[in-house]
Amino acid sequence: MSDAPQISPETVAEAVDAALAAFAAATDTAALKAARAAHTAEGSPLARLNASLRDVAPEQKAEFGKLVGQARGRVNQALAAREGELAEAETAARLEAERVDITALAQHARVGARHPVALLQEEIADIFVGMGWEIAEGPELEHEWYNFDALNFDADHPARQEQDTFYVDPVSRHLVLRTHTSPVQVRSMLERELPIYVLCPGRVYRTDEFDATHLPVFTQFEGLVVDKGITMANLKGTLDHVARQLFGPEAKTRFRTNFFPFTEPSAELDLWHPTFKGGARWIEWGGCGMVNPNVLRAAGIDPDVYSGFAFGMGVERAVMFRSDVQDMRDMAEGDVRFSEQFGMVV
Ligand code: PHE
Repeated sequence: MSDAPQISPETVAEAVDAALAAFAAATDTAALKAARAAHTAEGSPLARLNASLRDVAPEQKAEFGKLVGQARGRVNQALAAREGELAEAETAARLEAERVDITALAQHARVGARHPVALLQEEIADIFVGMGWEIAEGPELEHEWYNFDALNFDADHPARQEQDTFYVDPVSRHLVLRTHTSPVQVRSMLERELPIYVLCPGRVYRTDEFDATHLPVFTQFEGLVVDKGITMANLKGTLDHVARQLFGPEAKTRFRTNFFPFTEPSAELDLWHPTFKGGARWIEWGGCGMVNPNVLRAAGIDPDVYSGFAFGMGVERAVMFRSDVQDMRDMAEGDVRFSEQFGMVV
């Protein structure tokens, strides 16, 4: 006797039931694959019953062949049906997991804000362009000649000392980070045709502390006019106009005597700020004066024919007293929450 299983309606039904139960119990395609291997592949009870057909007596072959064949047909059909069910369920689960809610609000990237120093700089530039002036720019890494010599600074002027000026190595190349925008006066006179009406905005550097009222890097705007018959009255009228544009119709300027090597006479410039938080008052804003004849000569301009005026003011300081900013460091730190308070004007 071989150890092949005996074919009978009971043994066949048992194999079929076991297969159907295993398929029904499989809850994913991997489990179904294992059930399929166990119940239909070679070595499975059904496959072994099928193999037993060899040993069946010839007169029983047709009957038993039909019994086993139908059983295999049923099992294969159940397997295909369960495969279909599981594939469908898995697709549905994946679609659910990957579902995108197209009605949800998009996550917008946070938009930055223009910096108040840049905004005021543009506002100031607009006022001068409105008067027909041109905007002139110069390098921040400047030759000592433009920053000091051509502006009539003595060789031993205190501003040249290391405590005010960032000298760039090697010192023998005489390069500095410009300490003011006045070197652009000199460049403008050398490069432009007369008459000259230029506004020179830009960043300047001084070896100052980083504290509530000082920044080692800050922004100035310089004005320069060189024409025939220019007097200090033109300077005063120009500055009063700018003050009114920026600070309202009540604003005005006043001069206090001062010294700058590149202007003669020179004045400290005060602004009457009518809407200052805490009450209208005079505020020191910058320096100005009539271009020193030595500076005109250094640029090849005849001071007997031409005269001019110049002024220079700080932009950060103006943002402070115009918008009541208490700490200058807020303007250097780049926190968007600070800039946002000045509006999102683009
Ligand atoms: N350059 C001077 C400063 O930075 C300001 C100034 C400019 C004064 C033009 C007079 C004329 O302090």
